[in-house]
Amino acid sequence: MSAPVEGNLEQVFANVASNYRGSDVDLHAVYREMREKSPVLADNFMARLGVPSIAGLDPDRPTFTLFKYDDVMAVMRDATNFTSGFIAEGLGSFFDGLILTAMDGEAHKSMRNLLQPVFMPETVNRWKEAKIDRVIREEYLQPMVPSKAADLMDFALYFPIRVIYSLIGFPEDRPEEIAKYAAWALAILAGPQVDPEKAAAARGAAMEAAQALYDVVKVVVSERRAQGAEGDDLICRLIRAEYEGRSLDNHEIATFVRSLLPAASETTTRTFGTLMTLLLQNQAVLERVRNDRSLVSKAIDEAVRYEPVATFKVRQAAKDTVIRGVAIPKGAMVSCIVTSANRDEDVFEKADVFDIDRRVRPSFGFGFGPHMCIGQFVAKTEIQCALNAILDLMPNIRLDPSKPAPEIIGAQLRGPHHVHVLWD
Ligand code: HEM
Repeated sequence: MSAPVEGNLEQVFANVASNYRGSDVDLHAVYREMREKSPVLADNFMARLGVPSIAGLDPDRPTFTLFKYDDVMAVMRDATNFTSGFIAEGLGSFFDGLILTAMDGEAHKSMRNLLQPVFMPETVNRWKEAKIDRVIREEYLQPMVPSKAADLMDFALYFPIRVIYSLIGFPEDRPEEIAKYAAWALAILAGPQVDPEKAAAARGAAMEAAQALYDVVKVVVSERRAQGAEGDDLICRLIRAEYEGRSLDNHEIATFVRSLLPAASETTTRTFGTLMTLLLQNQAVLERVRNDRSLVSKAIDEAVRYEPVATFKVRQAAKDTVIRGVAIPKGAMVSCIVTSANRDEDVFEKADVFDIDRRVRPSFGFGFGPHMCIGQFVAKTEIQCALNAILDLMPNIRLDPSKPAPEIIGAQLRGPHHVHVLWD
């Protein structure tokens, strides 16, 4: 099948975020003011910033926006009264509605229990050396070393999709497929758009990309099942997975695995870019991390708090409720601004400082509660391996003063678009 998405990967990546504002406003200043003056806003704040909804287009649905840590936590942890099913109408429609993030209640719980073991540290650690560290070091970073200069985002765009490709268990002898799958995954993410003309075209491309991904995954799933599914890869593990006597059929596995490509790639790309930006802008911290690698995971956690990629999460009120004195009717959308909650000064001392030594508290960059990111150990392991390898292979890595400094931008899917560096 030919690729339904034209253009190179860099262009498709830019398209995902091109219509989101965020570089022209100081979002953190805006959020600080909202936390103080209007912590529960009876309006769709993200729509004001030009961010399209993943919930399908229903302008009549009232939306409330939350900015404080405690409120965001209360909503995200309570999946009974604040549900996610509405996502099936928007983003979920690219996945036949069968998408974990859009499931509620028992259906979500039983699906999540089937999938969860495959993503626990125990499994991820088994993959770490051969399928994560080796790929990142040998296929990507070592060949870059002699050039002594790079835009780290060129590397960041490829390694997460390459790693997930390998973990899923796609055939290793077809590396040319990776860029195509990456472009499809990004086309799915670019599906929801605000501009009606763009929306129609983007939706068509997203549907085509989702179908194309489904078709290739389904073939591999059927092959693996026919061969007995004894392998260590994600597809074989999902075929073998069982929970309370239930297991997954080929359609469910193909649909889930297809959803992983957009869930696992772009998020990891931007999180890695943000982490590198923050470390390169704080050379003293970078030096400490270089000399004490036990700080790597602390740096990642703090970057995810300080500048989360997924800047907000939406839920739907399942009953009439009141938050901070504001009445929220049943059926209303509740938009939780993660970027704001993660910098709530009532919870995080000196919240606007990137401080890898701060006391560990939950923040919401990987979500919170029953829908919390199932792939967070995979993501963190990849980013750990990437940072460690960079510190090993690129001595004295620093920002390239002849190129524009990296900027963490975007009201949604936030991160830098370029991170130009030099090394010795
Ligand atoms: C740094 C990278 C990543 C970030 C920042 C991130 C962020 C998130 C967030 C915020 C959620 C919660 C969604 C919600 O509450 O509705 C989520 C869910 C999810 N993530 Fe990730 N993610 C990352 C990487 C990954 C990876 C590598 C995978 C797979 C290997 C993955 C798979 C998923 C899945 C399947 C869900 C849905 C879970 C559910 O609804 O029960 N993510 N992610």
